[in-house]
Amino acid sequence: MISNTTKEQILDSARIEEVVGDFVVLRKRGANLLGLCPFHNERTPSFTVSPAKGFFKCFGCGKAGDSATFVMEHEHLTFPEALRWLATKYNITIEEEAPSAEQAEQDSLRENLFTVTGFAQDFFEDALWNSDEGRSVGLSYFRERGFSDQTIRKFKLGYAFEKWDALTAAASERGFQPELLEKTGLTIAQENRRYDRFRARVVFPIHNLTGRPVGFGARILKSDPKSPKYLNSPETEIYFKSKNLYGIAHAKKAIIALDACYLVEGYTDVVSLHQAGVENVVASSGTALTVEQIRLIGRYTRNITVLYDGDPAGIKASLRGIDLILEEGMNVRVVLFPDGDDPDSFSKRVDQVELKRFLDAEAVDFISFKTRLLLGDAAGDPIKRAALIRDIVSTIAKVPDAITRASYIRHTAVLMEMAENVLLGELNKLLRSKATSRPTDPGAVPGPSQDGVESGGPEDPGAEEQTVDEFDAITQEEEIIRILLLYADHEIMVPDAETDRTDGPQVRIRDFIVSELRFDDIRFMNPVYAGILAEFAALSDNALGYDQQRFLQVLDPEIRQTAISLMTPTHQLADWSRHKIDVKTEEQQLHKAVIDPVAYIKKKQIIRIKANKFLELKTLSEAGISSDHLLEELRELNNLQMYYNRLTNTVIQK
Ligand code: UTP
Ligand code: MN
Repeated sequence: MISNTTKEQILDSARIEEVVGDFVVLRKRGANLLGLCPFHNERTPSFTVSPAKGFFKCFGCGKAGDSATFVMEHEHLTFPEALRWLATKYNITIEEEAPSAEQAEQDSLRENLFTVTGFAQDFFEDALWNSDEGRSVGLSYFRERGFSDQTIRKFKLGYAFEKWDALTAAASERGFQPELLEKTGLTIAQENRRYDRFRARVVFPIHNLTGRPVGFGARILKSDPKSPKYLNSPETEIYFKSKNLYGIAHAKKAIIALDACYLVEGYTDVVSLHQAGVENVVASSGTALTVEQIRLIGRYTRNITVLYDGDPAGIKASLRGIDLILEEGMNVRVVLFPDGDDPDSFSKRVDQVELKRFLDAEAVDFISFKTRLLLGDAAGDPIKRAALIRDIVSTIAKVPDAITRASYIRHTAVLMEMAENVLLGELNKLLRSKATSRPTDPGAVPGPSQDGVESGGPEDPGAEEQTVDEFDAITQEEEIIRILLLYADHEIMVPDAETDRTDGPQVRIRDFIVSELRFDDIRFMNPVYAGILAEFAALSDNALGYDQQRFLQVLDPEIRQTAISLMTPTHQLADWSRHKIDVKTEEQQLHKAVIDPVAYIKKKQIIRIKANKFLELKTLSEAGISSDHLLEELRELNNLQMYYNRLTNTVIQK
């Protein structure tokens, strides 16, 4: 274990521009450096390195982080491995902290479990190739299924004898402790008897990321209703089912090279696809797909294609998978096989070219997949249609990135021949309820003037409401948070649309923003931005200081990542490189930078309230009730809207 002192020493020594510079050609742009992003394909550089802050960020693909993150991402290493990599680069001697006695015992137990599991893998493999029973029963079964000898060897497939304790006996003879065998799950102890878990089955060893065997899946040879088709190793101290993917060690390289991963259900699907030349494939074998498994794939690619059976169980599993993958911010496509086929059987029926063509041609995005699936022949049924649309939008709401959400909405609108605004309204509703259903309600700016007045949600009807664009609103929220993170303690002149004066009273930016938003009870839709805003509100209320490091050091990874992304400069960069002239820096234009997004959000709010009032007006006039007060209020709202228009137009740009 690397000691904490060494860890700090490494992170202090690592200069982001030097670390990145080992892999990316960087050119100086103002205070930053710019290059071509190593994480995605691009021809114009959008990969920025900020030596002052110690961060990198790509404005194309969104990857961001510090030196250690860069090495982890680029070299596909774990955090400790990345630290060792950096230590070598900077000639830092690693001070190993002696693990505690408990830790040492744990380590050696794990090491022993690996050894026993490795022994079992060899034992099963040897039985398959070198025993009469293994050859006539196991090997002939695999061959009958179309597995080539080369494939069988590649996956180290094996055979478990039809005997009570063949493996247990061999392992004991080798001197392995009985308890150790039990801990691997290979031996089952019952009363005074100890016997093999896997008997009379063909065996698929399961490997961890680095290719060491951690467990087994074993298939029955003749169908027997009393016995499950597959028996699997139990969870052990080296086999974590929810974190393991069958085939990952074999697929890793191909996944990186192709920047895509196929996800299948079974052991045989992985093996057969490999044999058919498709090597970027893993299976969630034995468990329902988990978030950890998706994140494991996410270390190598953001693109997952789910290949499931076309039977109801397969469809259900793929629907669940889709939501999970989207929630992780990854891209998902789906290929459904003709009913009765799985990737294994299908790959046996067609040749390699046809298989690849099929996988390419049949992969559909999740929106088309759901549409096809659920719409079916009920296309003319408006109720089913509405349910389907709601279903799709609820899936889109799981996507963490606003821009991606916007483009999915657009796609759905086209596919379903619907107005985008209607879908956006539905999406907003879901996002809003998601944000406010959080226990601490980060959607609200907490504070004294919050009077509980309902400020009109996105579900409010009205013509102008239709122009509220979720994407726009979130962009403004982002902009406000960015300004706060960077310039919270700067001062601007109190804005005044009526005069042209340039020497008015000054106000601190964070106080201004917090009080302006609070005054109109404006809540942010994006929960992360809402959370950061609430923090600023708390700072202002308690007269506490703000330090730029504050959000870079918080534990919540989402907030930290957001802060890193937003605090890396973009606009100056773009302008400088485009115009090659010394444009005003953002700091000089702060006044406008603060007023614009605040005014924008306020105008949206006014438009929403106006729509409500119009509706009320209509109802009243239909009922023949006079509504002068409403007309008066509407006039006021119009004036207010014009005020904000003027404010954004006339703000002095000194
Ligand atoms: P399938 O029933 O689709 O099996 O289960 P398969 O992989 O296509 O196997 P073949 O082609 O009939 O030999 C998919 C996966 O679910 C797990 C296994 O991981 C299997 O690969 N499973 C299935 C079990 O763990 N136990 C079972 O009894 C059945
Ligand atoms: Mn199968």
